[in-house]
Formats: sequence, C-alpha cells, structure tokens
Amino acid sequence: MIQLHDKQFVPFISAKEIDLAITKLVTKISADYSNEIPVFIGVLNGAFMVVSDLLKRYSSPCEVSFIKMASYEGTSSTEEVKQLLGLNQDLTGRSVIVIEDIVDTGNTLVALKALFEKEKVKEFKIATLFFKPEAYQQDLPIDYVGIRIPNKFIVGYGLDYDGLGRNLPEVYQLKD
Ligand code: IMP
Ligand code: MG
Repeated sequence: MIQLHDKQFVPFISAKEIDLAITKLVTKISADYSNEIPVFIGVLNGAFMVVSDLLKRYSSPCEVSFIKMASYEGTSSTEEVKQLLGLNQDLTGRSVIVIEDIVDTGNTLVALKALFEKEKVKEFKIATLFFKPEAYQQDLPIDYVGIRIPNKFIVGYGLDYDGLGRNLPEVYQLKD
C-alpha cells in the first residue's frame, strides 16, 4: 500500500500487464498505418510514459508532438477542459492519433476532437491505455483501448493525485 497526500492506494495493475497492453496497442496501430506516416499527439501531463513506451516499440516511420490539456481537480473530472500548451505544427491532411493515458468522462476527448477539426486533419483517431467505460459520457468511438477499468480513481504510470504518483512504474487504485 502507498500513501499520496491524504489518501491510500493499493496495487492494481502491474508493470507487466501495462507492458502487454502497450504491445497490443502498438500491434494494432502499426497494422493500420503501414502505408503512411502518422502524427502521434500525446496529451500532457499524464500521457508522457505511455507515449514513450509506445513509440519505442513503434518501428515504422512516425512523428510525435504533444498538447497539454487539464480537466481534473483532485480526484474528479470537471466539465471545463483547459488547453495549456497548444499545437505549433501544420497538420493539414495528416493522420493524427491522439495518445491518452486514460479516458474517463471523455470531456477532454471532445475538446480535442473540436480542436483537430479546425486543423483539417485527414483522420483523427484516439488511443488510450486506460478506459473507464462506466464514466464515459460521449458517443465518440475510441479507436484503440489498452485496458478497461472500473470507475475508480487510479495513480501511477503517468497518472497523478494532485501532482503525486506519476513516477510509479505500476498502477495503484484508491483504497475504499
Ligand atoms: P476526462 O476528460 O474526464 O475523460 O478525463 C481525462 C483526464 O483526466 C485524463 O487524461 C487524466 O489526466 C485525468 N484522469 C481521469 N481519470 C483519472 C484517474 O483515475 N486518475 C488520475 N487522473 C485521471
Ligand atoms: Mg490526461
């Protein structure tokens, strides 16, 4: 068990399981993009670890960039999604694959989709390591999902609780 700020967390998903999920994502994405050069867009801060591990295994030509969004306060999602760091690249006609650490309510995804629609991209796809189906409130399909998890707060592997826990190589779940 670990303690971050005032809360306790229990081990939930091992580094090995994360590794397998990333391999599964890479296999699927690689098969779909063998004939073009996709642009991966990582959503900061949470997605830094998944972007790194995923791209180390993606052996075909690709580009990578980052965007910074924030909707979370403490342990719950808010309606308002802020863009904290923008795109500075022309994405006209490109296939964009957004890489998320986790999709919860989907508010961040909807904001991202609206943003990329303005960029006149060829295609907008979403890849996420974790997905909380019970919390998801959108119709937007998620193209690549690593691991489906229950609607409970998690930390580790890039995910934080008020700034702490991002460095943990495995994932922990909030203790009841
Ligand atoms: P959404 O906009 O509600 O889908 O939330 C997306 C963002 O909230 C994710 O990219 C994370 O940064 C953060 N988030 C959602 N669920 C969790 C969680 O269980 N732990 C830590 N951060 C989370
Ligand atoms: Mg995030």
